[in-house]
Amino acid sequence: MKVLVVGSGGREHALAWGLARSPRVREVLIAPGNGGTAALGRNVDVDATDVDGLVGLAREEKVGLVVVGPEQPLVDGLVDRLTAMGLAAFGPRSDCARLEGSKAFAKAMMDRCKVPTARWGSFTDEASALAWLERADFDVVVKASGLAAGKGVLIPASKEEAAAGVREMFSGAFGAAGAEVVLEERLVGEEASLLAFCDGTRFVVMPPAQDHKRVGEGDTGLNTGGMGAYAPAPVASAERDALADLAIRPILKAFAADGVPFKGVLYAGLMLTADGPRVLEYNTRFGDPECQVLVPLLASDLLDVILGCVHGRLDRTAVRWRDEVAATVVCAAPGYPGTYPKGLPIAGVAEADALPGVTVFHAGTTLDGEVLRSSGGRVLAVTGRGPSLQGALDRAYAGVDLIAFDGMHVRRDIGWRALRS
Ligand code: AMP
Ligand code: GLY
Repeated sequence: MKVLVVGSGGREHALAWGLARSPRVREVLIAPGNGGTAALGRNVDVDATDVDGLVGLAREEKVGLVVVGPEQPLVDGLVDRLTAMGLAAFGPRSDCARLEGSKAFAKAMMDRCKVPTARWGSFTDEASALAWLERADFDVVVKASGLAAGKGVLIPASKEEAAAGVREMFSGAFGAAGAEVVLEERLVGEEASLLAFCDGTRFVVMPPAQDHKRVGEGDTGLNTGGMGAYAPAPVASAERDALADLAIRPILKAFAADGVPFKGVLYAGLMLTADGPRVLEYNTRFGDPECQVLVPLLASDLLDVILGCVHGRLDRTAVRWRDEVAATVVCAAPGYPGTYPKGLPIAGVAEADALPGVTVFHAGTTLDGEVLRSSGGRVLAVTGRGPSLQGALDRAYAGVDLIAFDGMHVRRDIGWRALRS
């Protein structure tokens, strides 16, 4: 089978890597891909947001399956278009992707499904939002309801700052994503990412993962797309099935009842508070960098699992996991998550990738002739696998230590919360 992976990040490199290992996959196309995916398959220069271009590519190349990495094409209806053409596509239809594309929709869905979440309000005008804020007797988080590439959440230190954030969103600083604003209670606790493969009615939950969203060690500083991750995360492992019953099952049931069965990956971002688990948000795709630890932990054939979801046959699909721990460490460009240079030559990737138990996933790279250069803020994600978290981290950091580009920065404390307990 010929498979098309949509996207260009570390997540998509991990998906392409997993699919390329399947004996049933003949060729992997990646649109647009990166310097790492070029070595596994064929990069095609069609942007991940170009729905018409992707539909045309899938038709011309007669691919047997399209695997969609990022959220934007899901929200824009790529899977609906491919499915209407009779093509197998992995990812939710747009009606289901709204769960990620509209935080207001997601909060309403959580209330309807009795999923525990922070107290909230959603607003399309500034005056009502400010009035709600005035009345709130708890700390508040300000969110642009629409897709904002991970930058739409403000965690203000005071009510005045929250009000300024509300005004900023309604003044258009977040574009269309901020036309609707969600205000919610600020929760305190440890975060965990619970992802599940879904086939419309059934699901198989993956090992819980933990991401490190802040740029600085000890989880300080600005938010990023994610500086590293590991799985299984002990903070949620014992409770995994109970958490899935709370956060995944009722959502799938509601979508199925509405006649819009959810197929693909459903990702619940959890906050484990002193009062119990709460869902912060849903993503309707693999996380990045969670994917770079989950795909290497999957012992079953990724193609089989994906087709099991697409064809509504997860009950007859084996989904087995390695009895190991995986950790990934992101090598970021200088200045990230602010402005950063591109085109930096990168050394040591092949050497790192050759270490036992280490896989280097490319996130923002491009091949310039023979030279690998950076092309994004998150440049590489170096994954290590081992019998323990410490073993996995040792391998990942041994890989990182072989890699060099000007101003490269990494967090040296991935997994610290699990190691501490
Ligand atoms: P999101 O963009 O929705 O993934 O949110 C980004 C991050 O903002 C989350 O991973 C949390 O760290 C933080 N966050 C979101 N909602 C809340 C909340 N209600 N309370 C505290 N932190 C939150
Ligand atoms: N790692 C968080 C996300 O993919 O949204």
